[in-house]
Amino acid sequence: MSSARSTPDAAGPPAPAVRLDGVSKSYGEVRALDDVSLTVRQGEFFGVLGPNGAGKSTLVEIMVGMRRPDAGTVSVLGGSPWPRDTALLRRIGVQTQSSAFFTRLTAGEHLATVAALYGLDRAAAGRALEQVDLADRARTRVDDLSGGQRQRLALATALIHRPDLIFLDEPTAALDPQARRSLWEVLRSLRGEGRTIVCTTHHLDEAEALCDRVAIVARGALLALDSPGSLVRSLAAPARLLVPADRLSVAQAEGLDGVDRVTVEGGEVVIETRAANRVLVAVGELVGIETVQTRTATLEDAYLRLTGSEQHG
Ligand SMILES: Nc1ncnc2c1ncn2[C@@H]1O[C@H](COP(=O)(O)OP(=O)(O)O)[C@@H](O)[C@H]1O
Ligand SMILES: [Mg+2]
Repeated sequence: MSSARSTPDAAGPPAPAVRLDGVSKSYGEVRALDDVSLTVRQGEFFGVLGPNGAGKSTLVEIMVGMRRPDAGTVSVLGGSPWPRDTALLRRIGVQTQSSAFFTRLTAGEHLATVAALYGLDRAAAGRALEQVDLADRARTRVDDLSGGQRQRLALATALIHRPDLIFLDEPTAALDPQARRSLWEVLRSLRGEGRTIVCTTHHLDEAEALCDRVAIVARGALLALDSPGSLVRSLAAPARLLVPADRLSVAQAEGLDGVDRVTVEGGEVVIETRAANRVLVAVGELVGIETVQTRTATLEDAYLRLTGSEQHG
């Protein structure tokens, strides 16, 4: 691990990994980012969640110095990513949505070439392949890798120089569920090594499973920034209890204290409540606790409420 982490000042907390203040960016008429301020803490898995066109890629591109904001300031590991600073670039790893490969090479040769560009020895290539669980594909041509394997190779490319701070732009896009899960494991292990990760996604389950904190963006604006759990709780969305309709009547359910709403869906009586524990006990007494299924609010509820359902697509 690099010793060049941003030094905390004597008393205060460690300097943030990334700090954005009032960042805006337009492409002609399109306002891709609108006055975004946020801080990414060192060592956290930071998610940027939003629908297509929300401004996620623009945000990452500004953080890594690929784009210059129209307004606002950006600080990355204590430095400025614009104009490009090669010392800073050596400390960050970047996987964009259009990662370029040396497609005629094998995976191992591709990484050896990247290693050479960084002035690293060949062992770095082998180590990066191991890290993303791709060592058995070292001799496979990049062209012949599956989608999931390519994504992992892109990740290895972003990791090869052991950066403290890693930016990933939709690393699991277009992967099948199994490949996504296996990439999650790789990402979790990176997080476990104490690296800071900034990762965009439009998958809610991914944000919920991986992120310490999530920034929700839509139409270029930062709508919320908190842990997935806090985002869900701040909604105060009701929990749902499901009981087979032949075991409990709507009237019985409506008669219970703490019940907000009762509907019937797919042969189940669905009880919405903000007093889930109390209602669960009461329903359990009526029908037996093992008959009751519970559905708590998810990040999806929070997200849909914040972004508005018209944002889908
Ligand atoms: N190079 C560009 N030129 C013009 N418009 C762009 C460009 N890149 C992105 N945009 C527009 O900016 C908005 C945000 O895009 P982007 O940052 O790619 O969002 P996301 O990554 O969340 O899908 C979209 O409306 C997109 O069409
Ligand atoms: Mg994007």
